[in-house]
Amino acid sequence: KIVVDVPNKVSEIQPTMWGVFFEDINMGADGGIYAELIKNRSFEFAKPLMGWNIEYPAEAKKEVIVKLRHEGEILVQNRMDKTSANPRYLTVTVNNTQKGELGLSNEGFKGMGFKSGLRYDFSVLARVITGSVKMHIELLNAKKEVIGSTLVTPNTKEWSKIESSFNALASEPKGTFRIWFEGTGVVDLDMISLFPSDTWKGRKGGMRADMIQLLADMKPGFVRFPGGCIVEGFDLNNRYQWKKTLGPIEERQLIMNRWNIEFTHRPAPDYFQTFGLGFFEYFQLCDDIGAAPLPILNCGMACQFNSAEVVPLDQLQPYIDDALDLIEFANGDVSTKWGKTRADMGHPAPFNLTMMGIGNENWGPQYVERLKIFTKAIKAKYPTMKIVNSSGIDPESRIFQHLNTELRAMNADIIDEHYYNKPEWFLKNASRYDSYDRNGSKVFAGEYAAQSVQTVSPNNKNTWQCAMSEAAFMTGLERNAAVVSMASYAPLFAHADGWQWTPDLIWVDNLRSYGTPNYYVQKLYSNNKGTHVLPITESGSTIAGKDSLYAAAAWDKNANEVIIKVVNVSEKAQNHELSLAGVKKLDPKAKTFVMQKDNLNEVNSFENATNVSPAEQDITVDVKKKTINLSLPAKSFIVYR
Ligand code: AHR
Repeated sequence: KIVVDVPNKVSEIQPTMWGVFFEDINMGADGGIYAELIKNRSFEFAKPLMGWNIEYPAEAKKEVIVKLRHEGEILVQNRMDKTSANPRYLTVTVNNTQKGELGLSNEGFKGMGFKSGLRYDFSVLARVITGSVKMHIELLNAKKEVIGSTLVTPNTKEWSKIESSFNALASEPKGTFRIWFEGTGVVDLDMISLFPSDTWKGRKGGMRADMIQLLADMKPGFVRFPGGCIVEGFDLNNRYQWKKTLGPIEERQLIMNRWNIEFTHRPAPDYFQTFGLGFFEYFQLCDDIGAAPLPILNCGMACQFNSAEVVPLDQLQPYIDDALDLIEFANGDVSTKWGKTRADMGHPAPFNLTMMGIGNENWGPQYVERLKIFTKAIKAKYPTMKIVNSSGIDPESRIFQHLNTELRAMNADIIDEHYYNKPEWFLKNASRYDSYDRNGSKVFAGEYAAQSVQTVSPNNKNTWQCAMSEAAFMTGLERNAAVVSMASYAPLFAHADGWQWTPDLIWVDNLRSYGTPNYYVQKLYSNNKGTHVLPITESGSTIAGKDSLYAAAAWDKNANEVIIKVVNVSEKAQNHELSLAGVKKLDPKAKTFVMQKDNLNEVNSFENATNVSPAEQDITVDVKKKTINLSLPAKSFIVYR
């Protein structure tokens, strides 16, 4: 018999318990949630015209094209000495040129998604050097037919922003963008941009609404950003520097993305972080969806999977200043330098930052000595700020275990543990935190995902087996909420045509997005979190693998409901009576959310997006006996409320 001891509130469950981990990997930001459709809008990628093509009449002979190029109709200028953030721009020279004779096209991020009837906002920074040059702006479908157009004519001698909005007349998942130049004259162009108007909250230049909605639906307790390895960078030069991601977008200096690598069979040589999405926007996103912000900062070490580059200890101060200034940026009032910056960007109210991470997957004595310096400085100025420490990626390794012990001895506030492993590992580790000291450092399970094949294999799939094993493991996280204060699956997003890492929680293409079975598991946990852990036992023991069952129970003080989560990973259906011991009064109706598949290899897809997803059902409670019947199909995860 299974018993939930209802009056016995073992510990609180933190509001932050289930959150999300965001990183610009797999085209998560550029080409993902950042809705900009033009790739390399400011010509600052490694090669200035990456993503762009110079267009000539279809019938133009090769020699003509070569000649035109040599005469410099389209020149890339580099004003390096004047601005280091955005040095390049284009000079376009035309001479009695007709529409269709000279143009530029942009391929987008694996194409561009256009929606019929939707407004698109085009903008460009331009200045006229001589004459008059018209720009015919066009959206093209995959057959290169025009499905939307507008016309702009730069008319200022100084740089100014020209904007024009127009509708797409047809839908297209793999569209492109083109400009034809017409007239006689010379113009300079920069920041050529195109956004759909249906962004999240309708913000101009904002985020892709369908992707953010999937996050909002999870009601995450926190958002960890901006990564991941991109915090660390290939080298220190390539690290994420939040101060460079603020202010007008044309002044945000882009860098190569740390995931611009030939890691899998899908290399991404043109993967850059343009920072159209920067720290202000991440904080704003947290605000929008009611999640606590969890920024992670570089600790003075580059990614240890790439290099062993560290900043000398006597030169660590700028890194520490970044941490202190970030707290002021998030929480300081408008009389402070960074508080004013936040207010000037449109958010005078504080962002209520309560925690921050120092380092991502950093280890060794170099990490510990840097972390100590950071911690001392942050706590001296902001004693209540909670600091998340990193303990690495492989819990079975000596490095991980040694560091974990050392951080606990240092009384770390929160220790970030990462594990990418086979489904069996997750089942075996459902009791991982049962023995952790309740009074010691808290745990942030900051990155985890069951791997169907092996870590970072291109063949990994988001199968029901993986999702179910995570659901089983998560009963152990919830049961140990006294120790585990936060957890997040990783990575979050992946573009079907451009990814570096599998599996991932949410898959997208240029127009569509869907949650994997793992997404629905995360969402069920987060939407049915509860406020306090209740003991759930069978014959006095926790339910963590015996008879292939895993279970956790919680009380939600706001809804005054008991929430029970049970995972049956066996091949057989099981029936159990569950007794709600000590409960005074019960509603005869209960609700269940059932995820079940006989075939462990089932997945979701664009075509069948909710193939593996919860079904809601009502069940009755025996109010006299104070029991419910747990009818657990084989290979199922059920939430009872
Ligand atoms: O989630 C993908 C990567 O896995 C993260 O960037 C890194 O922290 C980990 O190694």
